[in-house]
Amino acid sequence: MTNIERGLWCVVPAAGHGARFGGEIPKQYLPLAGKPVLARTIDRLCAHPLTIGVMVAIAPADRNWRSIACSSTKTIETTIGGDTRAASVLAGLRALRDRVKDDEFVLVHDAARPCVRTEDISRLIEFGVAAGGALLAAPLRDTLKRAGDAQRVAATEAREARWRALTPQLFRYGELLGALQAALDARVEVTDEAMAMELAGYLPLLVEGAESNIKITTPDDLALAEFILARQSA
Ligand code: C5P
Repeated sequence: MTNIERGLWCVVPAAGHGARFGGEIPKQYLPLAGKPVLARTIDRLCAHPLTIGVMVAIAPADRNWRSIACSSTKTIETTIGGDTRAASVLAGLRALRDRVKDDEFVLVHDAARPCVRTEDISRLIEFGVAAGGALLAAPLRDTLKRAGDAQRVAATEAREARWRALTPQLFRYGELLGALQAALDARVEVTDEAMAMELAGYLPLLVEGAESNIKITTPDDLALAEFILARQSA
């Protein structure tokens, strides 16, 4: 028995400063087709029939959240995030302590991925629940090079069996909380939830998702996301 019928909580880490983006406003608050990226991301999660609410981890000095207007009537709350993505997710999970049971599934989704498709979230939930935990991912299509000294190619890596990890990622609340806490205690920097779960001995399932689920990282990505959103609504 799972909580799927009751609905899933989503945790959205949105406490980053967007160092790779530059500029004053964190990337999750930049306008994307007339609405902040973060609002679009939350709207996408809320639009899925199986979600019940979103817990957003924001920076302690966040001055932009107040201006966010989401379209959904689902519960949207904030908590204060941490110094790393993993610490922010952990803070979001802890804020849900009284509302989610240990064996219930939660979704974690990057604030900067506003183009995720409803059907991909559905597939993630369907296959991920059966597998006990999963992430959206895309198989690597380019040839992969390892860089050596002076940015010369040191080796060509095998492309087979390599995937790019996307979000959302779906795990049981208690297992994810334990895995993230263990990684933090061991001072291992985990860059996604699946990595923490792997370190804890789990084998998350890779569920293929659309390449259009981009993470907005550079100014060019904003224009690309705008194009993707326009195509999706056409
Ligand atoms: O920087 P990067 O793109 O990897 O961040 C991924 C997600 O993690 C973003 O949504 C960002 O806001 C969030 N994050 C966070 N707390 C941090 C660092 C990043 O919530 N300390």
